[in-house]
Amino acid sequence: MIKLHDLYFKPFISEQEIDTAVQNMVDDIAADLGDEVPVFIGILNGSFMLVSDFVKKYPKPCEVTFIKLASYEGVKSTEDIQRLIGLTQDLTGRTVVILEDIIDSGNTLEEVHRIFKDEGVKELIIATLFYKPEAYKKDFKLHHVGIEIPEKFIVGYGLDYDGLGRDLPGVYQLKTTQHMTNLVLFGPPGAGKGTQANFLKEKYDLVHISTGDVFRYNIKNETALGMLAKSFMDKGELVPDQVTIDMLNKEVEKNAGANGFIFDGFPRTNAQAKALDELMDNKDSQINAMVALEVDDEVLVQRLLERGKTSGRADDADESIIRNRIKEYYTKTAILKDYYSNQDKYFGVDGVGSIEEITVRLSTVIDKL
Ligand code: IMP
Ligand code: MG
Repeated sequence: MIKLHDLYFKPFISEQEIDTAVQNMVDDIAADLGDEVPVFIGILNGSFMLVSDFVKKYPKPCEVTFIKLASYEGVKSTEDIQRLIGLTQDLTGRTVVILEDIIDSGNTLEEVHRIFKDEGVKELIIATLFYKPEAYKKDFKLHHVGIEIPEKFIVGYGLDYDGLGRDLPGVYQLKTTQHMTNLVLFGPPGAGKGTQANFLKEKYDLVHISTGDVFRYNIKNETALGMLAKSFMDKGELVPDQVTIDMLNKEVEKNAGANGFIFDGFPRTNAQAKALDELMDNKDSQINAMVALEVDDEVLVQRLLERGKTSGRADDADESIIRNRIKEYYTKTAILKDYYSNQDKYFGVDGVGSIEEITVRLSTVIDKL
């Protein structure tokens, strides 16, 4: 992923794919033109990289020149095309091949046709590396198209977003979801996860998705997924990952404009972590970090026993049960620690101290994401 000015872009077309597309255009055009010596005309600025690669591959003699037009502002095409540098040579009787980086609305192409209307060229051939068929509003024939792409803004290989990105050898596409901070929050029982999740959600304006709550909500409201989950639970079986993922997906979609999410209680297995990565990827986003509160076992035992005195929770009253829960937590999360460490996304945070101290430690990690 890359950031240009305020926007995020993801890899879309590789250098290799571009090279192949350019080679195919060269082969087609060379075959069509035979021994005719064409004048290749690049439309600046965007086409400089294409023209350079194209003519290096072109197997026969040719001439190369440029005209400079401008139509784009930010990520939007405008009708108002400016002619910055026009034709500087007589092209009467010549075969002209326009080399465009991209054809979008076709406004620029219309201006090109206007420029060549009275030049008396033998033939005007239009070749473009990228073409957005859904955006094209004109009737001019496109003789050679490298790669058809959807109507989404791209950068790289000559194309820019407000001046940046032209130098990139591959092509990147604007992310539909802009930057989100998505956390997987972990902590052993008694680590203060709930308290910290509440602070983080306020401070970073995140949506807290607790899998337990999501399950209870779906079952209580008898949603289709809730009933499905319940049918497994009633048989004493584990709810399949896909059902849980579908529920989480619904929660994520309900909060489509969110700054990000705190996942709590999920994932628990490698398979679930992978499924969560896929879910985020489908939303053009990603998990940024697994943040785990680290608290010494003895401290946890003391805290939980203390809590048991007032909470009345049976599982907080018995020391051996508490120790067992803590042990189970480490056995289960060790796998996930490895999963996220391998992606450099694991952050352990010292969970001993005052609530404020721990919040500060967590914020230090999150602010760097
Ligand atoms: P058209 O006039 O709408 O066909 O757009 C052609 C010009 O707009 C191109 O030469 C580019 O300069 C610019 N353009 C169109 N689509 C994109 C894009 O996705 N990224 C960057 N520039 C673009
Ligand atoms: Mg252009």
